[in-house]
Amino acid sequence: MSIEQLAETALAMVAPGKGIIAIDESTGTIAKRFAGVGVENTEENRRAYRELLLTTPNLSQHISGAILFDETIRQKTKDGVPFAKYMADNGMIPGIKVDKGTHALAGFPGEVVTEGLDGLRARLEEYYKLGARFAKWRAVINIGDDIPSGTCIEANSHALARYAALCQEQGLVPMVEPEVLMEGDHDIETCFEVTEVTLRSLFDALYQQNVALEGTILKASMVVPGKDCDEQASVDEVAEATLMCLKSSVPAILPGIVFLSGGQSDEDATAHLDAMNRLGPNPWPLSFSYGRAMQSAALKLWSQDLVKNYAGAQDTVFARARDNGMAALGQWDRTA
Ligand code: 13P
Repeated sequence: MSIEQLAETALAMVAPGKGIIAIDESTGTIAKRFAGVGVENTEENRRAYRELLLTTPNLSQHISGAILFDETIRQKTKDGVPFAKYMADNGMIPGIKVDKGTHALAGFPGEVVTEGLDGLRARLEEYYKLGARFAKWRAVINIGDDIPSGTCIEANSHALARYAALCQEQGLVPMVEPEVLMEGDHDIETCFEVTEVTLRSLFDALYQQNVALEGTILKASMVVPGKDCDEQASVDEVAEATLMCLKSSVPAILPGIVFLSGGQSDEDATAHLDAMNRLGPNPWPLSFSYGRAMQSAALKLWSQDLVKNYAGAQDTVFARARDNGMAALGQWDRTA
């Protein structure tokens, strides 16, 4: 696989006015989301729900690709079309979550490291054959008393860089995701410092592992105060802090940055992205790779009547895609 092909895929992922829908919840995470709205967590319900999302009419107007979970990339529409083929036929790039989740970092209480490197080359080879063209790995950095440690940041950066190199070897664009969590009472300055140090460590590790940045996408968390911080920040403060942090730590050659929503409200996730793009031009396209902020409203509506609300839930998905797509251009109209 040439760097040019990887770069082409990466650029298509952040095409103007388009972003990614993250529907890669593990079986445990989707269980939580379904339980929250009273949907039974069966394989058929998971399949039907993912079909609802992916077959939303005209979704590709604002969605360039979707991140799937291992189970999902093996599933089909009710008409028997594999989801990955359905996506490719409808102008969306299939992606796949390839990490195996977070585990306690031995010797460092309260900190986690993401696992999943063992056997990854063979799994990537299979996912490519199943149609995936990009792959996501999520590292999690907790903020708390005396954490994160340098060791935690380094261990996670190293794993992210090893996975990214393997992805490129196998023809998949790595979507590297170092998520700094919003849990805690820390202020926005602390989030800024932790995010900056994490991103610098990540790009250092990517450089050391010979990862071609032209064929890499960063999935970043925004710089926000902790959920329990007394002093919350305005939309403009979040936009300015996030942009400054990214500019100080992310090379300009990167084809694009997408954000996770991380538990922000739908409106905040859209408003923050829109504000950052209004402050442009920026060194990279800034778009979205939202999970909850793309899906929550639709899941809630669908859960109230899985049959009658099917089309309404798809309308809701489309509306969220449109709003976030406009925010990726800095043209979101909150009154529309
Ligand atoms: P949220 O937007 O719900 O944070 O999910 C995005 C994601 O893929 C996290 O890994």
